[in-house]
Amino acid sequence: MLDQKNIIESYRASKVSIPDKMIRWMRSNHAGETGAVWIYIGARCIFWNKSIRNMAKEHFITEKKHLIVMSYILPSSKRSKLLILWRILGFSLGFIAAFFGYRFFCITIQSVESFVEKHYQEQIDFLYKNSLSFDLLQVLEICCNEEIEHQLEAKKDKGSKLNNTYENLWSCLIGKGSSLAVNISRFI
Ligand SMILES: [Fe+2]
Ligand SMILES: [Fe+2]
Repeated sequence: MLDQKNIIESYRASKVSIPDKMIRWMRSNHAGETGAVWIYIGARCIFWNKSIRNMAKEHFITEKKHLIVMSYILPSSKRSKLLILWRILGFSLGFIAAFFGYRFFCITIQSVESFVEKHYQEQIDFLYKNSLSFDLLQVLEICCNEEIEHQLEAKKDKGSKLNNTYENLWSCLIGKGSSLAVNISRFI
């Protein structure tokens, strides 16, 4: 489990600022983690489903920590101006996905986390190739690994049954929607 306090302390000690080329990416990371926290707040409304409740509770803790780290690294002035929108969309997605049961919720989380993994990996590769901010690279690697854990857990719990056409369409929609949200939050 990630020791958030140590990460924050090491970041604070390192006094490393975000490379200019990473500001937009970091804005989208902060917006994304905001949405992620609200996905699980929305899912927790379906309190009568124990499996959803357990997964949402666990994942919420991790996403909240990711958000704390992003908030610490990215100054308020650089954050997305549409945070309220990302909260509403996150909440709605979590609520709707959970409303249709645990399997549908797992399919949704798997799709979201697959997208997030690629999103973080792209930034890790960029920092690595350009030998920029080792501290930021470490933070992103930890977050990325935890998103992969979420993804694998959702995949396992979804079961071995193949996705039907509607479920595949939904996954595809999640990927496209996430990509659109990232592109918007990079700029606004
Ligand atoms: Fe996250
Ligand atoms: Fe996650």
